[in-house]
Amino acid sequence: MWLKMLPFVLLIFLIMKPVENANILFVTTFPSVSHQSAFQPIWRELSLRGHKVTVICSHPLKDKSLTNLTEIDLGGMRKQAMNKMPKDLMKYMTQKPTFLMTFTKDMIATSLFSEMNKRILEHEEVQKVIKGNQKFDLVIAEWLFPTVSAFSVRFNCPLIGMTSLGAPIVALDTVGNPSHPILSPDHNLPIGRDLSFRDRILSTLYSVYVRVYYHWVVLPREDRTIKKIFGEHMPYIGDIERTVSLILLNRNTVFHKIMPVLPNVIELGGVRNVKVQKPLEPELKKFLDNSKNGVVYFSLGSNVLSSNLPEDLIEKYIKVFEQIPYNVLWKWETDKLPRQPKNVFIHKWLPQTSVLAHPNVKLFMMQGGLQSMEETINYHVPVIGMPSHSDQTMNVDTAVKYGFGIGIDFDDITVENLKAAIMEIMTNKSYKENVMHIEKLMNDSPVKGIDKAIWWIEYVIRHKGAKHLRSPSMDIPWYQYLLLDVMAVIFSVLALLIFIIYKLAKLSVHLYRMLFCKKSKTKKE
Ligand SMILES: *[C@@H]1O[C@H](CO)[C@@H](O)[C@H](O)[C@H]1NC(C)=O
Repeated sequence: MWLKMLPFVLLIFLIMKPVENANILFVTTFPSVSHQSAFQPIWRELSLRGHKVTVICSHPLKDKSLTNLTEIDLGGMRKQAMNKMPKDLMKYMTQKPTFLMTFTKDMIATSLFSEMNKRILEHEEVQKVIKGNQKFDLVIAEWLFPTVSAFSVRFNCPLIGMTSLGAPIVALDTVGNPSHPILSPDHNLPIGRDLSFRDRILSTLYSVYVRVYYHWVVLPREDRTIKKIFGEHMPYIGDIERTVSLILLNRNTVFHKIMPVLPNVIELGGVRNVKVQKPLEPELKKFLDNSKNGVVYFSLGSNVLSSNLPEDLIEKYIKVFEQIPYNVLWKWETDKLPRQPKNVFIHKWLPQTSVLAHPNVKLFMMQGGLQSMEETINYHVPVIGMPSHSDQTMNVDTAVKYGFGIGIDFDDITVENLKAAIMEIMTNKSYKENVMHIEKLMNDSPVKGIDKAIWWIEYVIRHKGAKHLRSPSMDIPWYQYLLLDVMAVIFSVLALLIFIIYKLAKLSVHLYRMLFCKKSKTKKE
């Protein structure tokens, strides 16, 4: 009996036993709940497995029971920045970029990121970590911007990159992952899943532009920052980021466009447990329970505040809501909505999963952010997507292509088309069926995202890096990668051959003519 059980006991022991109690530094930089909520489960789980985890973040868990977790809370910095954010910038965020604006938006975004990263590194508590004598066995860094990868040099330990969504081309370049501009365009581009000719031109130009801009502007600027913060002895930031062992992406191969990935690019496919629900406030619960005709839930996420939207747009929403035979739950961040229709309920902050889980909620009007998409798919609620920045256009187009949503750009919203879209989704059953279908596909996976992430993180700790997974493309010059030298030789030889054949042909014609002409001359004579 005992002998029979032994392999199981051993197996359980092997599964349960943490690699060793490692010291891990987890640095997140983007102060948005949609980014942070994808990371929180990971730092929580790592600490529960006995690792000593130090986190630099804007949204700490503040869970006293997690005794192995130290959270450095930069939330105050976020609040300051939000208050200072000009209304113009908000307008800019709700505008889908045009062809040319795609390029300028990248310049603005990278300079904002740069400023933000510098301020994080200068923060008093972060300075204590940098100057302190604590040791770390691993640094995990949010992989949207290179600056914080410098921590891995400071602590002389392996580095893992992680994102809460896909990754921009320049981040994929740090491990040498191929990014074909047509097959896997940059996830921030305002284009859909099937690329039109215009999109293909945009994607190709953008893939060249971001790399040139990154190497000539972004990296030198960040290099100055890390030299100032960590000291002049630091290697070039562009070389530091290329020592990354793995990158973990919150991509799902069903939802996201398929792309080729190297063995050190791990697609987690969802990390959060979206099944967790917080209780609804009594008043809100009563509103949802009593909405027998169905509820349209309207929220633009945590970064875009509805109350900061342009007034003419708010007016259009109100007109539409007045005309539909359904109730509306609107995430509205001030106390009063001017001209609030009777069927509209406003609330400053909503437990989104609990709202989506309510059986009367039939439609989600959203901006197309990935975390909201994950939630709405899991609760089988079709969407109307109004995308404006980063990966939102691609996400909304995915909802359209899978048949569980309708997309309308902010600039194209009219009372008529928005009302028609709401009526279509509320009355046509196919949207609901399609969202159930994609949910089944997305959740059919051998390993949960969180388990996959932890396994790979501990893998890097166990082997002190993952050099053996490094792509050979990282160690050859770019002209060799692009086959320029090979092409040059092949084309030179071809050109030489063509030249020789041409010369020979010319010579033979010449010879032939000479002989022929001589003959005819002799004939005439
Ligand atoms: C903290 O880590 C230790 C091992 O270092 C582990 O035994 C303990 O369960 C962890 N505690 C919590 C609350 O995660």
